[in-house]
Amino acid sequence: MTTSLVKDAAGMDKVVLREPLGATAQVHLYGGQVTSWKNERGEELLFLSCKLLRSVQAIFKPPKAIRGGIPVCFPQFSNLGTLEQHGFARNRVWAIDTDPPPILNSSGSGSCSSNKNSTVDLILKSSEDAWPHSFEVRMRVTLKRGGDLAQTIRVRNTNTDNKSFSFTIALHTYFSVSDINEVRIEGLETLEYMDNLQQRKRFTEQGDSITFDGEVDKVYLGAPTKIAIVDHEKKRTIVVKKEGFPDAVVWNPWDKRAKAMSDFGDDEYLHMVCVEPAVIETPITLKPGEEWRGRQELSAVPSSYCSGQLDPGKVLQGK
Ligand code: BG6
Repeated sequence: MTTSLVKDAAGMDKVVLREPLGATAQVHLYGGQVTSWKNERGEELLFLSCKLLRSVQAIFKPPKAIRGGIPVCFPQFSNLGTLEQHGFARNRVWAIDTDPPPILNSSGSGSCSSNKNSTVDLILKSSEDAWPHSFEVRMRVTLKRGGDLAQTIRVRNTNTDNKSFSFTIALHTYFSVSDINEVRIEGLETLEYMDNLQQRKRFTEQGDSITFDGEVDKVYLGAPTKIAIVDHEKKRTIVVKKEGFPDAVVWNPWDKRAKAMSDFGDDEYLHMVCVEPAVIETPITLKPGEEWRGRQELSAVPSSYCSGQLDPGKVLQGK
């Protein structure tokens, strides 16, 4: 298992994770952002805007966020507060955390990253941010043997003035898909959601899996720990397992909004979907010294056909 720090085409630092069967992942220090996750056949599983890739220096100028991969929205999701859209964490340079405290499991014992995995630990500390709080955000990104990608994120209140703080957060994961018209999301049926396109009014999702024929921007409340993105054309299903994130956002800008985004190609909406583990409806509040932890683990599995149909139920149950 190897981990190396290199420069990208724009001279920005990124960490490359490799596992022996050939899967790779990349994490930029800018934004603490995972920007690539490839399976052992070298197929990219995350979406990154081509506009960004083709002319990285022309289009991408910090403090703009990198369009694609897995931006971290912290300490504010969307415009739900007074800070910049999606908070500042995606526009800051994170550092490599050389001595991360162990990640405690529910029994209180520490879990160290196994040496069978390729791992990097990053940290973002408070600076002169618009946010009047002292904090540490730690993120461990692990490429597991076999190619699954895990991200554990911890937020600690390090205020010395006895003040609590509250935040919302999301792992804004952009998945690469063959054709959005052929994609289904399983696991969110019948859930209540807030529709960001209708002043966050609440609705209940119908019983069928979610398909796409226009712009979607929904926050599902009380989403299950497993969500499947079934890509019919690629015969591939991505399973998102999440812990600590009660909500899940599903976003596709569709054609009109895509055209209005300067860092996004006009037709790129066809080849991406965001499914984002999130804490939105009930913000997390931490007292000084307290820590919150959330985790997502992504796996790509071949979709199997059953009487001409995919069987996402089996995928969701891990069968
Ligand atoms: C999603 C939001 O998470 O992110 C959308 O639900 C938003 O409302 C989208 O448009 C992209 O946000 P941004 O700031 O990266 O353009």
